[in-house]
Amino acid sequence: MTALLSRTGARVERLPLARYTTLGVGGEAEVWTVQDHAQLLEAMEAPYRILGGGSNLVIADQGVPERVIRLAGQFAATDLTPDPHLSTSDQIVTGWVGGGVPLPGLLRKLQRLGLGNLEGTVGIPAQLGGAIWMNAGTRYGETFDGLHTLEIVTPEGARQVTPDELPWTYRSSGIPRNHIVTRARLNLRPSTPETVLDRMQAADVARKGQPKNRTPGCAFKNPTLEDGQKVSAGLLIDRAGLKGMQAGQARIAPEHGNFIVNLGGATATDVHALLQLIRERVPVPLELEYELWP
Ligand code: FAD
Ligand code: EPU
Repeated sequence: MTALLSRTGARVERLPLARYTTLGVGGEAEVWTVQDHAQLLEAMEAPYRILGGGSNLVIADQGVPERVIRLAGQFAATDLTPDPHLSTSDQIVTGWVGGGVPLPGLLRKLQRLGLGNLEGTVGIPAQLGGAIWMNAGTRYGETFDGLHTLEIVTPEGARQVTPDELPWTYRSSGIPRNHIVTRARLNLRPSTPETVLDRMQAADVARKGQPKNRTPGCAFKNPTLEDGQKVSAGLLIDRAGLKGMQAGQARIAPEHGNFIVNLGGATATDVHALLQLIRERVPVPLELEYELWP
């Protein structure tokens, strides 16, 4: 279908969502690509979902009935200029960085500038807005380590919040679903490019055992056991003997039990079958990390 322009100029087109996900699964939806607040608010006039880097999504084979919003234009711009009023010798507060900015490219820029606090999120193929919404991270650091102010938009309008106003925790910002993180000002630690690079490389080593195929990352959050210890969900899936199990063209990765990979042509139904199998066989209750659409 050719793209149409909405009343305020948003680009509207029917597109296969598989194209926008790292798993490569998902049917069609009406996609609204918005460049500014007027277009975003118009897109939010009917039921909608917000798509980031598509790196944590399993989208149904029949697609979704809601509008799918993608952030572009003003929401994909990066202003890393230090704020002269808020920055000090040991803290840099930047200008606004769009929620639609890809995290890997942002981290490369911060490394070259010798600015730390977000380097623990290296290797996460998210957009900044999606990383904030999930508080994506690794054991070397998480997204909320480097935030100063967030702008959140709902159909009622835009508001600004600081991280201490949110109940954020492991893999959760506490921001309600469909409250859109349009941009953020970052809170960074002045360092050197070499030190930031060293820390990024240390965090990246932990990924060496992760599969290279198409995947939405870890399927389940790491559970906390009765003794208060957090345990790797991958380790539990491995111990249950499930690595390598396959449904259609989806497989539990032989490299790491918490990754489901698309061998080529997998469907959402295949992935759901494996999620079900894991839940049946692992003796500890597991909370899904993936977002399932719808
Ligand atoms: P999407 O997948 O597009 O969306 C996920 C959810 O966020 C949806 O509910 C969506 O509506 C919401 N969302 C997206 N953008 C916004 C926005 N601007 N405002 C509000 N809500 C929004 N995660 C980790 O935490 N640590 C890791 O180490 C890690 N490694 C990964 C490695 C690989 C190879 C892959 C494929 C994924 C990995 N992930 C990891 C998972 C994933 O990258 C994170 O969950 C990330 O936060 C998803 O962000 P996204 O922009 O891709 O969001
Ligand atoms: N392990 C196994 N078998 C497996 C998987 C893991 O024995 O199949 C063992 C490993 O040998 C290791 C331990 O379990 O001793 C922990 O494994 P790993 O270092 O891979 O960490 P994880 O807890 O499984 C977490 C995050 C990843 C993140 C890595 C690296 C969660 C759910 N997962 O994995 O995040 O990249 O640490 O920091 O928190 C994601 O969230 O999508 C994600 C990929």
